[in-house]
Amino acid sequence: CGIVGYIGNRKASNVLMEGLSKLEYRGYDSAGLALLEAGSIHTERSVGKLINLKEQISSRNFTANIGIGHTRWATHGKPSFENAHPHCSEGLAIVHNGIIENYLELKTMLKEKGYIFHSETDTEVVAHLIKSNYDGDLKDAVQHSLRQIIGSYGLAVISMSEPDMLIIGRKDSPLVIGIGDGEMFAASDIPAVLSYTREFVFLEEGDLAVLKKDSFVIYDNDGKSVNREVRMIDWNPVMAEKAGYNHFMQKEIYEQPRAIIDTIRGNYSLENSSVSFPDFNIIKDAVKDLNRIVIVACGTSWHAGLIAKFYIEKFAKMPVEVDIASEFRYRSLVIDEKTLFVAITQSGETADTLSALRVAKKMGAKIMSVCNVVGSSISRESDSVIYTHAGPEIGVASTKAFTTQVISLFMFAMFLGQERKILSRDECGRYLAEVVRLPEVIENVLSKDDLILSLAKQFKDASDFLYLGRNVNFPVALEGALKLKEISYIHAEGYAAGEMKHGPIALIDKTLPVFVLCPKSSVYEKVASNVEEVKTRDGIVIAVVTEGDEGLKDICDYMIEIPDIIEELSVFPTVVATQLFSYHCAHLLGLDVDQPRNLAKSVTVE
Ligand code: G6P
Repeated sequence: CGIVGYIGNRKASNVLMEGLSKLEYRGYDSAGLALLEAGSIHTERSVGKLINLKEQISSRNFTANIGIGHTRWATHGKPSFENAHPHCSEGLAIVHNGIIENYLELKTMLKEKGYIFHSETDTEVVAHLIKSNYDGDLKDAVQHSLRQIIGSYGLAVISMSEPDMLIIGRKDSPLVIGIGDGEMFAASDIPAVLSYTREFVFLEEGDLAVLKKDSFVIYDNDGKSVNREVRMIDWNPVMAEKAGYNHFMQKEIYEQPRAIIDTIRGNYSLENSSVSFPDFNIIKDAVKDLNRIVIVACGTSWHAGLIAKFYIEKFAKMPVEVDIASEFRYRSLVIDEKTLFVAITQSGETADTLSALRVAKKMGAKIMSVCNVVGSSISRESDSVIYTHAGPEIGVASTKAFTTQVISLFMFAMFLGQERKILSRDECGRYLAEVVRLPEVIENVLSKDDLILSLAKQFKDASDFLYLGRNVNFPVALEGALKLKEISYIHAEGYAAGEMKHGPIALIDKTLPVFVLCPKSSVYEKVASNVEEVKTRDGIVIAVVTEGDEGLKDICDYMIEIPDIIEELSVFPTVVATQLFSYHCAHLLGLDVDQPRNLAKSVTVE
């Protein structure tokens, strides 16, 4: 979900609508506003995308200078008008992101006090709770209520009884204050209000803040007023526009050569055939003591983790375990202070990854994260952060965030290998010479866009797809299948090519397209024989191969050629080919590429 709040002299409805449009990627099941209009609370809500709300209010001329807005990704209660935020309780309105775990207990208590509920949401419970605690001081009522709540929240409250303030609070859900001149903004994400201000304050866990036109005061968990650092954010809002492409996803696919260079430059210095890592402060002291790396992530970021395992084990000879965050959290873990815990996350806000990090931290692990959002919760709770410099990623399906994560982890593995004296300077130099070729190698795949579009035209109506790869290209098979599912809604499965014979081979017939990632590699012959197994059963093979590959020419139905590059880095051209293919399938099917159904860009609930 996304939250925006405003207090100042502008028309609040305009500021809120613009802010929500930048947050829509966080969820688009419904949207709503609450305004303090002529002394009382006025709400407007609508189901579905923001455009519906926009049409609903287009002829209204609101004058309010204070208000809150919300775009929803349903958790408690189905997507519906009744469940759309804001929720109200007699002259008070609230928007909320997160999950109130003890909401049933609170609801029963409030019902007994006579409060009537109009929705199935946990948020309405908070609205009534604040009202029930109100005794002439809104801040005290909110503070008291937050102490009664178990769960996570980013929330914003306005009330007609105290019309000169906007109250916000956070726990396990991001919230920032944007500081203006005679006006204040609140938002769950910076781009929402970046066109109004560059000065931001990030709330810490448990913080509550009272925003007035000309001031703000932050109170910590204990209710003490505290100072939090004001940060200047230099993102250009134009960076977040489509720049001539049909969709953000397409633009982001094309931005990858630049994003990869920026990520390398932003973190590492490459001198004398070695990698140094100026901002990394864990390894220097602890490298001798670390004996294990545990990587935890969700979705596409998890796939980057699976690739990183190959890199770290090869370059640094350290055992690596890779886990899905929601699985990791609830296991009996073997972790101690000799473990390096690595969270990979584009947004830095994924709830499962954040909780996993906290568990590992409690058990003594050193915490590192690979993250694309400066100031995000996960980056702030890490001992050390490698920032990917992908720039804002708006398309829900992750592309440039993924490849920048992978290059960061490749460089990190080399760095670790050097520090542990496993990777020699010569070897390091050889790898770096290949790294600098990456932008040109990716450009080459992008230049095959027409060929990939023609394949998409041919296969967009298939009902199932199989993606196969081995070694480093096995996670790419998983990622290729995920991308196709996410945006084109075609069922697809990613499989380790050698494992196919233990199950999925039963699916193969003349209608099943099989996307095989088979660049030149140490397992080329093995994958080639898996291709034979598919062809023997009449499957249709689309193979991604290295330029000049003669071996597969006669067996494959279609080939996408990529430039020659070392096996470890072949994941970049292979994944870009799968991204373009998924993108074109979804676009040709007339689907909403940037905002696929049921998905959210950043999942800040468990
Ligand atoms: C959501 C997004 C995915 C993303 C995953 C993890 O499900 O739709 O694209 O891979 O979250 O997000 P993170 O921000 O932690 O990388």
